[in-house]
Amino acid sequence: MKVAVCGATGVVGSHVHRVARARGHEVVSLTRSSGHDLTKGLSEDALAGVDTIIDVSGIQTLSRKRATDYFLAVSRTLQEAGAAAGVSHLVALSIVGIDGVRSSYYGAKEEQERAVRAGVLPWTLLRAAQFHEFAAQTVERGSVGPLVVVPRARVRPVAAAEVADALVDLAEAGPAGEATDLVGPRNEILVDMVRALLARRGSRRPVVEVPLPGAMGKAMSSGRLRGTPDASRQGHQTFAEWLDQS
Ligand SMILES: NC(=O)c1ccc[n+]([C@@H]2O[C@H](COP(=O)([O-])OP(=O)(O)OC[C@H]3O[C@@H](n4cnc5c(N)ncnc54)[C@H](OP(=O)(O)O)[C@@H]3O)[C@@H](O)[C@H]2O)c1
Repeated sequence: MKVAVCGATGVVGSHVHRVARARGHEVVSLTRSSGHDLTKGLSEDALAGVDTIIDVSGIQTLSRKRATDYFLAVSRTLQEAGAAAGVSHLVALSIVGIDGVRSSYYGAKEEQERAVRAGVLPWTLLRAAQFHEFAAQTVERGSVGPLVVVPRARVRPVAAAEVADALVDLAEAGPAGEATDLVGPRNEILVDMVRALLARRGSRRPVVEVPLPGAMGKAMSSGRLRGTPDASRQGHQTFAEWLDQS
C-alpha cells in the first residue's frame, strides 16, 4: 500500500513513518520541511498513487482560532487533493475526552473531527490520550526562563509508538469510522511526569503547577482526558517504563 503521512517528522508522525515502512508500505512524507505546507494546498503529483493518508500533522498553540484555521485548512487540502488523486482512505488522529470542550485547542480538534466525518474521503478517526512524550512537549512549551510552568492535568498517557502501531493497523484495515479510544495503562499527574523527566535528565529546574483557566483547564484538571479505560483499548508501556527505555 502507498501511504502519505502528514506530519511525518512530528512526535507521533516519526513513529508512523517508521512503522509503515517496517511493514513494507511505500511512504510519502508530507511536512513543511519536505516542501509541503498543508494549509496552502498540495501539488497535483504529491498524492499520486497514494491509497491512504494518515494525518498526524499539528500546530502548537492554545488559540482556538489559530488552531481551527490550521486544522480546517489542512482538512480542506487533504479532502480536495485526496479526492482528485483517488485516495480511498483518510486516517486522522484526535484526542480522548474532548467532547464539548469548545474552547482553545480542544475546540479546534473537534472542528477537525467534524471535517473528517463530513468529508468526501472514506475515513477512520482514532482518539488517543496524551503521549508519554507530552511531558517533554510540556517542558518545551512551558519554559519561562529556568522555570517550567505545567498545567494541572490528570492524564492517562500512552506511548506515541503504540499510537503509531494502532494508526497503521487502522490504515491497513480500511475505512471504519470511529475507532475505539486508545489510552495508556495507568493514570498519571502531568506535573509528576514532568518532574520525573527532568530528574532523569539530571535537571534541577524549578517546576510549578498552575490550573489553566477556562474550559480547557477544567478538562485537563478534571480527569476527563483519561477517557473511560473500561471502554477503551489500553496501551502496554507505562510512563515509568518509557522513561527507563528513553
Ligand atoms: N502530543 C500529544 O500528546 C497528542 C495526543 C493525542 C493526539 N495528538 C494529536 O496528534 C497530532 C500530532 O501531534 P504531535 O504532538 O505528534 O505533533 P508535533 O510533534 O508538533 O508534529 C507536528 C507535525 O506536523 C507537521 N506540520 C506542522 N505544520 C504543518 C503544515 N502547515 N504543513 C505540513 N505539515 C505541518 C510538522 O512538520 P513541519 O514542522 O516540518 O511542517 C510535524 O511533522 C496532532 O493533531 C495532535 O492534536 C497529540
